[in-house]
Amino acid sequence: MEYLKLNNGILMPLSGLGTWDLNGNECTDTVAWALQNGYQLIDTAQMYGNEKAVGEGIERSGIQRSKLFLTTKIYRKSNSYDKAKAAIDQSLENLKVDYVDLLLLHEPYLQGVEMYRAIEEAYKAGKARAIGISNYDKDRYIEFIKQCEIIPAVNQLETHVFYQKWDYQKFMIENGTQMQAWSPLAQGIDRIAELPVLKEIGEKYEKSGAQIALRFLVQRGISVIPKSRHRERLLENIAIHDFNLSNEEINQIRSLDRNETLFPWTKAFS
Ligand SMILES: NC(=O)c1ccc[n+]([C@@H]2O[C@H](COP(=O)([O-])OP(=O)(O)OC[C@H]3O[C@@H](n4cnc5c(N)ncnc54)[C@H](OP(=O)(O)O)[C@@H]3O)[C@@H](O)[C@H]2O)c1
Repeated sequence: MEYLKLNNGILMPLSGLGTWDLNGNECTDTVAWALQNGYQLIDTAQMYGNEKAVGEGIERSGIQRSKLFLTTKIYRKSNSYDKAKAAIDQSLENLKVDYVDLLLLHEPYLQGVEMYRAIEEAYKAGKARAIGISNYDKDRYIEFIKQCEIIPAVNQLETHVFYQKWDYQKFMIENGTQMQAWSPLAQGIDRIAELPVLKEIGEKYEKSGAQIALRFLVQRGISVIPKSRHRERLLENIAIHDFNLSNEEINQIRSLDRNETLFPWTKAFS
């Protein structure tokens, strides 16, 4: 595994498992199996309705708490300081843990600053080892960091080979925030794993197109959280830390950038 150092010095794995769309027993089985087979980071959210299933998977895996990096997010249902504070405790209870490793504000909400105040307090109380935001575009990020006390360690954003965000990543790093990519495989849109440029590069390293798409992000220092319900793909998606793309290959992949979201719902935030 490779790691990214966050602004408070803690290390975040550069790859992990996303759990959106995994529920019930399937979610529990997948999380337990992933943790027993090399995964260290699990990404969930109150919005996904699967925190309890994730918590059971963690328990079933038998993994030591210190070897796990667990992320959750609070969302619009908890749109006040008091509700956010209560939601954080609810997440810890759902997940059966005393702390999460990363606690995020899921989206920019009108009450985002006061919700984040509850997140900052949870951090100070040891309920989260690092805190951050998600889906904040550059303008909102600039406004947000003027108003918060603790600079977000992470901004989790839609990022993949079709939407690469080089300038925004640089700007955030200069301000103390690392990027984490959601939908790093673009949810399979436009048969991303079959793109000739990715497959051709992959042949050289005996890797799949999906692995090249993920490596491209990881090598830029972006943490990735692909989701799969299939075991062979789960293994494939973390076997991305044993090779390096050349600058020429990085530049070839840069040509895939469309500089536009694939998910219209995020336009409400941009
Ligand atoms: N913060 C936010 O607002 C936000 C928004 C969206 C997502 N997320 C997080 O990011 C995680 C990942 O995003 P995502 O689930 O939307 O999309 P994704 O990880 O980019 O793509 C998942 C899709 O790719 C397929 N897939 C997985 N591995 C593959 C491989 N090696 N080769 C080919 N296809 C593969 C999966 O199919 P199978 O399952 O059938 O293998 C699934 O259809 C989510 O689970 C969630 O934790 C956060």
